[in-house]
Amino acid sequence: MNGEAEAVSVPEVIVALDYPDPEAAFELVERLPEGTWYKVGLELFTRGGPPVVRRLVDEGRHVFLDLKLHDIPNTVAGATRAAAAMGVRLLTLHASGGEAMLRAASDAVLDANQRSGADTRLLAITVLTSLDDASLSSVMGEGSGVEQAVGRLAGLARESGVHGVVSSVGECRAVKLACGPDFLVVTPGIRLSGEGAQDQKRVATPAVAKSAGADFLVVGRSITRADDPSAALERIRAEVG
Ligand code: C5P
Repeated sequence: MNGEAEAVSVPEVIVALDYPDPEAAFELVERLPEGTWYKVGLELFTRGGPPVVRRLVDEGRHVFLDLKLHDIPNTVAGATRAAAAMGVRLLTLHASGGEAMLRAASDAVLDANQRSGADTRLLAITVLTSLDDASLSSVMGEGSGVEQAVGRLAGLARESGVHGVVSSVGECRAVKLACGPDFLVVTPGIRLSGEGAQDQKRVATPAVAKSAGADFLVVGRSITRADDPSAALERIRAEVG
């Protein structure tokens, strides 16, 4: 576990559309280059629903649908099929839903991809980056450290056919070493140097995320709240390019 991360493709930047309404989200989308990846999360999806995803996909954008699914296997498999049918490229579910749930979802994706030529990949949530050891222990009981939990949940996801995980930059290298270079790691909690962490507990710069081996960087406020979002995106791409 002491080797340098294998080098190192250029990570893709995913812009988190954390907006309360679709109009505001599409105002930002129109200001950014074509071919950009977007994360549609719980807030925007609950407001705007599938039409938001379909519009992005129809316009040729790549969609990461961050619904963090967590339910019984049959229900999660059904939601996974529905997401794949909309053409989303990445979809999240909680690794803590257990092996049967993860397997049901990965079987559903495999089937959808084979039938329709879709290219949907599943990402497991291990431990939210807003949790640290203390807050995780308050949920799971004493001694439930973040690092241990991330490793265990990433391994479970991989064994269950999931394509990758969402994890903080701090865990990225360990996940790659444990699960292999092809196992995707998507890292939120990205901040440009000089920016505050806000509500994130574990943050890193784009360059550090790249050197840790991240495949995708999820960036929200550093782009969406910038005076010039397009320039902010360019700055991040330049840092990892
Ligand atoms: O604005 P900021 O860059 O902090 O946004 C981070 C995005 O990544 C948010 O949409 C948040 O929901 C998401 N996310 C996260 N931590 C995870 C999974 C997703 O911050 N573990």
